[in-house]
Amino acid sequence: MESAHILIGLSGSIAAFKIATLVSSLTKQGYEVRVIETKHAASFIGPLTLAALSHNEVYMDEFGGTNEAMIPHIELSRWADVFLIAPADANILAKAAHGLGDDLLSSTILAATCPMLAAPAMNVHMYENPATQANLQTLHERGWTIIDPAYGMLACQEAGKGRMAEPEELEKNIKAILENKTAANEAPAESSIDQKPLAGKRVVVSAGPTQEALDPVRFLSNHSSGKQGYAIAKAAHDLGAEATLVSGPVSLEAPEGVRVVPIVSALDLEKAMIEEAKDADFIIMAAAVADYRFKDHHEQKMKKTGDVLTLELVKNPDILAGLGQNKKPGQILCGFAMETENLDTNALVKLESKNCDLLIANNLRTKGAGFQTDTNVVSLLFPDHTEHLGLQSKEALGHTILKTMLALQKGEDPNVIVR
Ligand code: C5P
Repeated sequence: MESAHILIGLSGSIAAFKIATLVSSLTKQGYEVRVIETKHAASFIGPLTLAALSHNEVYMDEFGGTNEAMIPHIELSRWADVFLIAPADANILAKAAHGLGDDLLSSTILAATCPMLAAPAMNVHMYENPATQANLQTLHERGWTIIDPAYGMLACQEAGKGRMAEPEELEKNIKAILENKTAANEAPAESSIDQKPLAGKRVVVSAGPTQEALDPVRFLSNHSSGKQGYAIAKAAHDLGAEATLVSGPVSLEAPEGVRVVPIVSALDLEKAMIEEAKDADFIIMAAAVADYRFKDHHEQKMKKTGDVLTLELVKNPDILAGLGQNKKPGQILCGFAMETENLDTNALVKLESKNCDLLIANNLRTKGAGFQTDTNVVSLLFPDHTEHLGLQSKEALGHTILKTMLALQKGEDPNVIVR
């Protein structure tokens, strides 16, 4: 099998010296590594060192250097399976967030379509500057994996957050992305007995939208396709569980071996979930439940009347919160949160208020995430910490969620699964 192509872009920071260790380790393991340096990065670590360690020329020039036919930013961006910017100084993060391409590294970032990672490294005040934080948030929302810097004494003799993560941490993140990519491209392997860690478990997944009827022909609903919930139910079956899908109206085929309980409205969903939750080990509320329903349901089609029509809505029950209040011993509850702003803060409030063990947060505006796609970019929120995951297929994410829930049920460290 051809080895994975890892592109590493260095910007100007003293942490550049750590990249020599990373490049050396990756090439020794058989990965193909290519390196781009900015002019400032080259002041910290010379291209000769990185060329010798990567067994490849180091790219610095926007034009082809000795090979004039080559357009480096296009060629390198096409070549890369994964692209790590490390050290990522405040300047390159700002350029990436705002789409500037005024040198080889920033142009290659603009042209890249592969999963992106960045390991920030800078002075603590530059890191904490609201502009840098906003740029990091923008990149995270676009699906970048941000490898947080550590606290410590910085090169500028100030203590604080800004020390670039160690090479081992960078390597771990690159490998996690490559594994997710493989999982997204390949059908999961045929299950055998020992690949069925959920054997004997009952998994209940809600999926799709609810429809709140106004009259026999009209309803209030949303764009949920049900893809994420169906993918989780399929993963549950593949991992050996007895899987039940409580599904709103969607145009998807039921995964083989999964029992489907069809529902239409939020009230139907509530009734079905209370029933199914009775003996469930894992409950995953992936359904996009309408928060409100019409106060009055009309038996006959409503007629057109005046120019303005006012319809009254009443609140639907919060099904997840109800399940959270009545959680059985050993039962693990997972909710979803889709937001368009302040994702992590809003999601954390939901995790706590709905008494969930795990909450999957995704931003509708992130590329590759959301309703109709086959992929997702999410954060996993636990009561005590958050893990940001890169782009992956909804099915691969289903495996991760279920294995994480199993670890939580067993009282094991869920991060072993996530990372
Ligand atoms: O509060 P919000 O609707 O954003 O919460 C989303 C989570 O809560 C999802 O897991 C969704 O399935 C669940 N939910 C629910 N009942 C509602 C609204 C949302 O169970 N009425």
